[in-house]
Amino acid sequence: MTSQEITHAGTHNRARLCVISSLPVDLVGSETLVRLAAAAPKGSIDPVDHALYRAVKLVFEGDACGAYNGSAQSLLEVESFDPASSQRKYSLAIVRGVKFGGRSRNVAVMRGDLQSVLEASKSSGSDRALALKNAGAHIKLGRRCMGVAIADITDVSQVSSKEVLTTGEFRFQGVVVLGIGDQKCIKSPTRGGYTRIEMWPAALRVQHWLNVALIVAMSVTGYYIMNPFFGPPASEDTGYLMGLIRYIHFISGFAWIALALWRLSLTMFATTRQMQWRSLWPIYGVDDVKNLFGTVKYYLFLSKHGPHYIGHNALQQLTYTSIYVLCIIQILSGLALYGLYDQYNILWVVFSYPVHWIGIPNMRVLHAMIMFFIWVFVIFHVYFAFRADALENHGGISAMINGGVWVPTGTKPIDAPEIE
Ligand code: HEM
Repeated sequence: MTSQEITHAGTHNRARLCVISSLPVDLVGSETLVRLAAAAPKGSIDPVDHALYRAVKLVFEGDACGAYNGSAQSLLEVESFDPASSQRKYSLAIVRGVKFGGRSRNVAVMRGDLQSVLEASKSSGSDRALALKNAGAHIKLGRRCMGVAIADITDVSQVSSKEVLTTGEFRFQGVVVLGIGDQKCIKSPTRGGYTRIEMWPAALRVQHWLNVALIVAMSVTGYYIMNPFFGPPASEDTGYLMGLIRYIHFISGFAWIALALWRLSLTMFATTRQMQWRSLWPIYGVDDVKNLFGTVKYYLFLSKHGPHYIGHNALQQLTYTSIYVLCIIQILSGLALYGLYDQYNILWVVFSYPVHWIGIPNMRVLHAMIMFFIWVFVIFHVYFAFRADALENHGGISAMINGGVWVPTGTKPIDAPEIE
């Protein structure tokens, strides 16, 4: 048994350092990220290199066994290598023939301590925040996070790894997480030219369906409060029917407020891009505006292809964010009406204060109007969800149940690294 293998006392299970996860943020996909991280010289005795090597072998050759020898076909060809030192906590290597973005490139690879790699390379604010948040979650579990950055090199023969720092800018590519366990394959499932991407985390899916149930409950009961469409006519004894309907409306309303607070907490603590604060507002630069116009042109049939996103495109995101705003107004107007029942409590006095501005009838009309807007949104939302699933064949509908969408292998979406 070698030093990197740890045996659990009393069992025969052998647990050793292995790659737990590959978290790309920029250009390269998760498999290429591990391959770049494995850019080590032949004969390395570092257990981290062994772990990376096994992960690469499992992805590309379907085999994680065997000792490290640095010469398997699936490993990148390391031209020169400069190890990390106590002053510089990352190594530098020059590798040939890395395939991404539809072509083969020669690149300098910087890999090592996450913080040091982040400091020595360029990355967007959101990529950096995402990498640190994800790494933080793994570090809490006692795992080790390696940062990887790359820089393009035009002529490999002219450059040694010692000069690499001056040849161009390094771009941060992501984090490879190592920990004790069994090496599992980090490769995403592929089928018929499509790769499955884990898109919607379980929390978001649960919230989506709770929203559906609560919006239906509040719409039926709310509409009934406005216009009692079943039960005995008002001229007869209706018993406690309206009281029951209002009770269901209020219980659902407060459950909806709890759901909104849960969603709010996720925007702050989530480690997935599509659940964070930033994702609610899609326009940060000129490129985002250009892509927004590209999407509008595509939707108006003025161009054949629109910009490709795996999450929401800017137009979709703006619509969803507007709906969130509308839902917040709906909650506030509901609370304003509810607060009228108890004007001895300072909290309800505050919540119902806007009623002084527009009056009770207008507040009720506002609350009812927003319900109709929500209905219109739901109709379009369901139509577009089925339309997109039928046209793109990406399993978007089932993704809200099982979390995964199917994306054509080899595409480079605007909002995610390459799909491998
Ligand atoms: C999707 C969300 C919601 C929908 C579709 C909805 C719909 C409605 C509708 C149509 C009415 C009748 C308006 C009228 O003519 O008086 C109503 C009344 C009301 N809603 Fe909502 N509502 C929603 C959320 C909420 C929330 C979050 C609260 C807060 C607890 C709330 C509290 C109330 C109150 C207090 C009334 C007045 C009941 C009454 O006058 O007896 N609603 N709602």
